[in-house]
Amino acid sequence: MTSLLILHLAFLLASEPVPVHQLEEIPFLPTPMEVVDRMLEIAEVKQDDVIYDLGSGDGRIVIRAAKKYGARGVGIEMDSWLVEFARAKAQEEGVDHLVEFRIEDALKVDISQATVVTLYMLPWFNERMRPVLQKHLKPGARIVAHDYDIEGWPATKIEKLPEVEKRTDGYTHRHTIYLWRIGG
Ligand SMILES: C[S@@+](CC[C@H](N)C(=O)[O-])C[C@H]1O[C@@H](n2cnc3c(N)ncnc32)[C@H](O)[C@@H]1O
Repeated sequence: MTSLLILHLAFLLASEPVPVHQLEEIPFLPTPMEVVDRMLEIAEVKQDDVIYDLGSGDGRIVIRAAKKYGARGVGIEMDSWLVEFARAKAQEEGVDHLVEFRIEDALKVDISQATVVTLYMLPWFNERMRPVLQKHLKPGARIVAHDYDIEGWPATKIEKLPEVEKRTDGYTHRHTIYLWRIGG
């Protein structure tokens, strides 16, 4: 009986999710504009789309989608300074009537109005978002992620961009874009 209880407790502990404070913080690192453009092309963004960028940084993805396609967008960002920057940039680019930026935790946001979700976040974040994306997005919605896959969810399409030199010491990188399409 005791050993069964210990076994049960061990199972419970093993299946506990990793506490948030133990997860790696996701810093601001902007997606290069040529990669942003390709992400929007791969997602086949149109004027009637609503783009949610989860962890929107300086707002470049939703601002670009508004400017290029006339699409509406919502940027979710925890850093208030970046949100202020993105709002000012949207105004400067003349798309502030199409986009909004909210200081919120992207893990807690209601994404049900999104037709396109963009991600440049770490694998743990994408993994946590997977059930939310699968549950709340409507058929036809697309998710497009830069460099980090969503574990356990085979992508509809994966595109590796040509290798680019990132630093003067010769470090190179091939940006990867992942696409998922909600079926139905
Ligand atoms: C790698 S940057 C990507 C910025 C932008 N999406 C892009 O592709 O250029 C990730 C951003 O997510 C923000 N972030 C991290 N965790 C977040 C969370 N839980 N909710 C909202 N924003 C978050 C960071 O402050 C950072 O600006």
